[in-house]
Amino acid sequence: MRTQVLPVTEESIALAARLLNQGELVALPTETVYGIAADARNGAAVRKIFEAKGRPQDNPLIVHIYGMEMLHGIVTQVPVRARKLAEAFWPGPLTMVMPRGPEVSDVTCAGLDTVGVRMPSHPVVQAVIQASGVAFAAPSANLSGKPSPTNAQDTLADMDGRLPLILDGGESNVGVESTVLSVVGEHPMLLRPGYITKEQMEAVLGEEVLVSPAILEKLKEGEIARSPGMKYKHYAPKAQVTIVQGSFDAYRRYVQAHAGEGVWALCFDGEGARLPVPSIEYGKNHDGVTQAHHLFTALRDLDRNGAQIVYARCPEQDGVSMAVYNRLIRAAAFRVVTA
Ligand code: TXA
Ligand code: MG
Repeated sequence: MRTQVLPVTEESIALAARLLNQGELVALPTETVYGIAADARNGAAVRKIFEAKGRPQDNPLIVHIYGMEMLHGIVTQVPVRARKLAEAFWPGPLTMVMPRGPEVSDVTCAGLDTVGVRMPSHPVVQAVIQASGVAFAAPSANLSGKPSPTNAQDTLADMDGRLPLILDGGESNVGVESTVLSVVGEHPMLLRPGYITKEQMEAVLGEEVLVSPAILEKLKEGEIARSPGMKYKHYAPKAQVTIVQGSFDAYRRYVQAHAGEGVWALCFDGEGARLPVPSIEYGKNHDGVTQAHHLFTALRDLDRNGAQIVYARCPEQDGVSMAVYNRLIRAAAFRVVTA
């Protein structure tokens, strides 16, 4: 299959809408990362997403809507908490897991009785949903296990020949995938951290948001992942990544002691020049927003440079940094050392 990459125009939006209505795939930008869209009601179309990504069948997809009316048929009920959070954060990078409605294909939800829904703020997604009338399922546009793409070039690198169209809408702003919150249980539970933080949601809800243990630690043998995506190896570059906790000086000494062929540093802005190995910088120290924006491109850049062993500076674990830590610790296969 030939993969076309087109700039965003009225014609390319119309083409995307036509493809979606025909049960085809379209890759497109969102404010978080690029996604691969297919009609969430059409099981055969959604199956093509799993094939294109090489994604395990038991990992459910997020349904993207525009306007609260579109929730009809997608969910059976909008819990009060979901209403409050939608008012505060939609359109935006927040996915809420709700009771699944009759129109969503089994394939989209991997057979679960819940569905993750989000209303993206990116104008291209909104235009495609409006032009097609389709609520679409869309995972990140990477091959399963690789870092999510935040631009059309990285999407093409993974998806060339696997789908007919990529809309090029420039670099995604946020850089990491949406926050995923379950609102079906007794207490709201964070399943995946993102740009909308636990602290922000707690302020709106006036109650504590629980954090799924799988977010910051490795699942223990036999433990059940509430968000199936959490159990898979993820975001992994070819290099072996280790997170190094401690001050910059301790980090620099650690890298010095482990310097050698193929060794790279993944550090914060302005630190690279002071290190004894080549480096890639992924945002400002103590600033989760800039780190989130650069992390996945930085991981792909390490591969493009042939890095074999990578020592990464450790982000914080609260606010938006929780999302950065969550992605980086998976890229590092949970290898963390203290310098
Ligand atoms: O920002 C995003 O959310 C991007 C863009 C394209 O919108 N999409 C995305 O999709 O990150 P994906 O498929 O890469 O991640 C979906 C995550 C997975 O961890 C999955 O397990 C979880 O959401 N998820 C989806 N539906 C769920 C459900 N019903 N219950 C629990 N977890 C669910
Ligand atoms: Mg993904």
